This record gives sequence, C-alpha cells and structure tokens, in this order.
Amino acid sequence: MGRWAGQNKFHAPCDRDLPKLDFAPVSNTFYAPGEQRAAKVHALFATIARRYDLINDVQSFGMHRRWKRRLVALANVKPGDRALDVCCGTGDIAFALAAKRAEVTGLDFTEQMITVAEAKKQKAESGKLNFVCGDAMNLPFAESTFDAVTVGYGLRNLASWETGLSEMIRVAKPGGRVVVLDFGKPDSALWRTLYFGYLRLCVPVFGLVFARQIDAYAYILESLKHYPAQRGVEARMRELGLKNISVVNLIGGAMSFNYGEKTEERGCPGRSTSESQTGSGM
Ligand SMILES: C[S@@+](CC[C@H](N)C(=O)[O-])C[C@H]1O[C@@H](n2cnc3c(N)ncnc32)[C@H](O)[C@@H]1O
Repeated sequence: MGRWAGQNKFHAPCDRDLPKLDFAPVSNTFYAPGEQRAAKVHALFATIARRYDLINDVQSFGMHRRWKRRLVALANVKPGDRALDVCCGTGDIAFALAAKRAEVTGLDFTEQMITVAEAKKQKAESGKLNFVCGDAMNLPFAESTFDAVTVGYGLRNLASWETGLSEMIRVAKPGGRVVVLDFGKPDSALWRTLYFGYLRLCVPVFGLVFARQIDAYAYILESLKHYPAQRGVEARMRELGLKNISVVNLIGGAMSFNYGEKTEERGCPGRSTSESQTGSGM
C-alpha cells in the first residue's frame, strides 16, 4: 500500500456550511488527511471487502440497488458503447452497465474488492466486462476513450476528489456522459441533522454487528465532512467545462447524482470553457 503514499494532496475541509452540532471532531482509524489518505482508504476496503455487499443492503435497506440502477439510466449507455466505472468496488454498477450491452471496464485500487467482483462475474452472465486494478486519480486510459464514465460512492474517498473528477472527464469522449452518485448534504437543517445522526449512530452499529468494524462505517460521516457533495461537485463540473450539468437529489438530498457531458471541443482537463451551462432536463 506504500505505493499510494505521496499521490495525495490535502484539500481543505469543506464543512463550513454545516452545523457544528452535526460534526463535532471525531478521530477515525480510516480517515487521515494528506499523505496517508489513500493508504487508509485502501486498508478500510481491504478489511471490509467480503462483507461490503451485505452491509450496503442493511444500511440502505436495499435501496442502494435502485440508486445504482438510476445512475446507470443516467449514463444512458447503448449497446456497444464503452463505459468505465471508477472505484467500482464489488462491481454492482459495472454489472448493471454491462447488462445494457456496453463494453465495460470497472476500476478499483483495492484488490480485495476486485476479487469479490471477479467472483460475482464467474456466477453471472455479464457480457463484455473486465475489472482492472488502478488509481482513480491517475486513470490508465487514453484521453477520450469512453462514452460514459460513472462513479458510485467513490469520489468522496479520494485524496483529491477534484483530480478524480478531472480524470473521469479526461477519459470521456467528447459528448460522453460523466455521472457521480454519492451521499449528499441535504439543504434542510432538520433533515440534515436527522440524517447525519443516522450516519453517526446507526450505520457504525451495523458495521459493528455485520463486519465487526465500527470505525469503518463511522468513516462515512467523517469522509462526508471533508467532501463538498452535490453542490461542490456541480460547481466543479461547471469550472471543468461540462455541459448539460444537472443535480438530482434523492430522499431530500441525502443521496444525489451529478451529471454532465464533455463538450465536443473541450481541451485539457481543468480548463474552463464558455460552453458550460446548467440544466435540469434529464
Ligand atoms: C464505497 S466503495 C464504492 C464501491 C462501488 N462503486 C459501489 O457503489 O458499491 C469505494 C471504492 O472506492 C475505491 N477507491 C478509493 N480510492 C480509490 C482510488 N484512488 N483509486 C481507485 N479506487 C479507489 C475503494 O477501493 C472502494 O472499493
């Protein structure tokens, strides 16, 4: 895991818009800013890989499956399209993309998660699907390779989510869809307090019961604290020159999708263009 050290850039916490009540400082075994971030995240997912699918079902009451199907619907892949699912984990989103008869690559840096995905692939008819081990912040693909690039619950875990997003855009073809699903930050103060209370109190208990890992699931709230969620990703998509940008909130913004399309004449990742626009038509 030492190979991940040194690839990280610390970025300032972005929770100034959130009530301090929700986010009293907590130390977490699996969250560390800066150099250690990627190694800690890798250790977390290596530890929970075998129980990951079970706990997802429990903590989301099975709803994560529906949200992932929605992500795939937004990616709008056609038979023969090339699709990349970044931070693919145990492969749910990659399998759903492959079911649309796209040629799919799932990428993740935790070998143990890929191993689970490969085992699921053995049991399923999954079309053109392959899993690769790699870094979301330095994608091993040429510019303009994929018709759709997705990430589910992944950007929040990167040492630099901005770099991860730039990389997704770089490897998308002009006109390609870039779709992000993650935990969100609800606008309503009451709902946000209840929801963060659930993440703080209930989800770690599920982690303890089902994976003997309380800190692994307390990590979700800790990582969300350092992630700007739907509004920050939307602003960054605009800065990076995507078009037809939209945010879709679910359950009052507790979950959200960010959607954008790479402009036809887009230059280098990170360069803003005057083409970007906001829309809600999805
Ligand atoms: C919360 S899981 C999400 C898995 C899957 N997308 C899903 O929705 O079930 C986050 C995944 O991101 C992966 N990950 C974190 N940082 C990464 C990086 N720098 N490069 C590649 N994968 C990374 C972890 O290994 C883990 O499998």
